[in-house]
This record gives sequence, structure tokens and C-alpha cells, in this order.
Amino acid sequence: MNHSPLLEKFIALFDEPESQAPVLDLACGSGRNGLYLVNQKFPVVFADIKESALEQVKSTLTSKHGELHSSASFWQIDFEQGSVKEKHEHPLAAKSFSAIMVFRYLHRPLFEEIKQAVINGGYVVYETFTVEHPQFGRPKNPNFLLKQGELAELFADWEIIHSFEGVIDANNDSGRQAIAQIIARKPK
Ligand SMILES: C[S@@+](CC[C@H](N)C(=O)[O-])C[C@H]1O[C@@H](n2cnc3c(N)ncnc32)[C@H](O)[C@@H]1O
Repeated sequence: MNHSPLLEKFIALFDEPESQAPVLDLACGSGRNGLYLVNQKFPVVFADIKESALEQVKSTLTSKHGELHSSASFWQIDFEQGSVKEKHEHPLAAKSFSAIMVFRYLHRPLFEEIKQAVINGGYVVYETFTVEHPQFGRPKNPNFLLKQGELAELFADWEIIHSFEGVIDANNDSGRQAIAQIIARKPK
């Protein structure tokens, strides 16, 4: 699967680094989006619960560059342990990223941790399915579907660079997906 057109459209944002902190590709899967940034020479942490996903990212990098790219690092982590109360079990606590991108993954208890782990002046890029999506296919579980206006409300105290909610053409059985997207900048 190709990287998101959203990322490509807003790639210039990644050129204004407030620090040398890397970008987190949270629940990276095959790493399609993080790999796009690594190829543009941005440092990326690929994070996923599945070792097989991280191995796939490593293999893609090795086949393209002949070795693991120095801009890429890997973090095998269960982000859902963050719902446990003890502070030290919050996976993003004490971490710092110039941007966090989340594509096609939703675990609401992580929202506040994501906001905190982005440096001041950094970005969140979020895109996933909405409650309108089940008519087109999976996921259908409401825990994995954004409510109407949910992302915009979550980032109401940040600068909204881009916001979209609607139906897009897609490569699935129905040819359509209902998604929400947001790119928001944390106040400096
Ligand atoms: C639908 S895929 C999206 C992958 C990628 N973000 C993309 O858009 O291509 C969801 C990913 O979330 C990961 N994931 C699911 N639960 C997770 C958890 N508790 N902690 C970390 N990653 C998780 C899965 O392993 C999978 O790679």
C-alpha cells in the first residue's frame, strides 16, 4: 500500500523542525508512511505491537538501501497498556517527538498522551475511519471509529492546519471509505 497522499501534500511541515526529535509512526504496520518520511531524510521511529510489522519495515529499508537507514529506529510496544493506571505504564510518558502520525488506528485512552508527547510547535497527523464507514466495510466496532467532529474537538486548543471528514475513493470492495483527517500544530 502506498503512503498517504495527505502526508505528501503537507510534507513541507516536516521541514520546519523545532528540534531534532524524530517523528513517531504510531501503529506503523508495514510502515508505508514512515518509510516515505525516511526516504525524505526525516528521522522516524516505527512503532507497532507486532514484531512481524517491524521486521517488514526493516526488510523494505534493507532492500531499498542495502542496509538499515540511520534515520529509522524501531519500537515494539503495546500502546494499549497505556490504559493501565500506573504512570510508568503509559507508553508515551516522558517521550518527545517532533510529530506523531497515526493512520488507521484508534485507541482513545492514548489521545492525551499523544498530545503531550509532541513538542511545542510540533504536529499531529491523524487519519482513521469514522462512524460512517461500516456501510463500506470493516472496521465496524465503534471503538475503532471516530465520531463526527471528534478529531476537531480533540485538537480545538491547537492550530488546525487541515481538517477533513467525508468519503474518499479507496481500494476496497466497495471502493469507498469514510474517514476523518486532521493535521494540527501544538502551540509553542
Ligand atoms: C490497520 S493497521 C494500520 C497500519 C498503518 N498505520 C497504515 O496506515 O498503514 C493497524 C496497526 O495497528 C497495530 N496495532 C494494533 N494494536 C496495537 C497496539 N495495542 N499497540 C501497538 N500497535 C497496535 C497493528 O499491529 C497494525 O499494524
